[in-house]
Amino acid sequence: MNIAFLVSGNGSNMQAVIDACKNNTIKAKPSLVISNKSQAYALKRAEIENIPAFVIKDNQVILEKLQEYQIDLIILAGYLKKISNDILHYYKNKIINIHPSLLPKYGGKGMYGLHVHKAVLAAGENITGATVHWVSEEYDQGPILAQVKVPILKEDTPQSLGKRVLEQEHQLLITTVQQLV
Ligand code: GRF
Repeated sequence: MNIAFLVSGNGSNMQAVIDACKNNTIKAKPSLVISNKSQAYALKRAEIENIPAFVIKDNQVILEKLQEYQIDLIILAGYLKKISNDILHYYKNKIINIHPSLLPKYGGKGMYGLHVHKAVLAAGENITGATVHWVSEEYDQGPILAQVKVPILKEDTPQSLGKRVLEQEHQLLITTVQQLV
C-alpha cells in the first residue's frame, strides 16, 4: 500500500505516520510527498526520510504524479489548497484529511492553524479536539472517520491549546490510517 502526503507546512502529522510506518505500526509505504509551497518544512522531512518529494501547484500534474507512484491512499496533512474534482473522482474514498477541531464545528474556508483555536476559545467552549474525515468537494465536510476530544483549560491560549490538540492529532491519525490500511 503506497501512501502519498499532500502538505503545505511543518508536516508533523506526516512525520507521525512516517514513523509509524517505519516501526511497522502501519503496514504501508510512505511513497510520495507533494507540497504546494516550496518553503514547507515537510519537504525537508521528506528529504531526510528519502521519500520522493515535489513542489506542485497544478492539480492535473498532482494527479499524474499520484498515478505514476501508484498511490493507494492520500493523506492531506496540513494541506491548505483545494484538490480538484478530477483527483476526488479518481481517488474516491481514498483521500483523508486531518483537522484540528471537532467537525462540523470550526471547519471550512479560513479555518486552519491558530484561527481554529482562537475561534474555539472566543466561543467559550470547554472541549475541542481533532477529526479525521474523508475528503469531499467542500472544505472539511466529508464523512467523519474518527475524532478525539481535548479538554480546554482555563489558562489556555490559542498556542497552548493548538499544541495539545496537535499531539492528539498525531495519535488519532496513526490509529485511523492503521485501521484503513
Ligand atoms: C494540523 O493542525 C492539521 O490538523 C491541520 O493543519 C495542521 C498541520 O500541522 N490540517 P502539521 O503540518 O502536520 O504539523
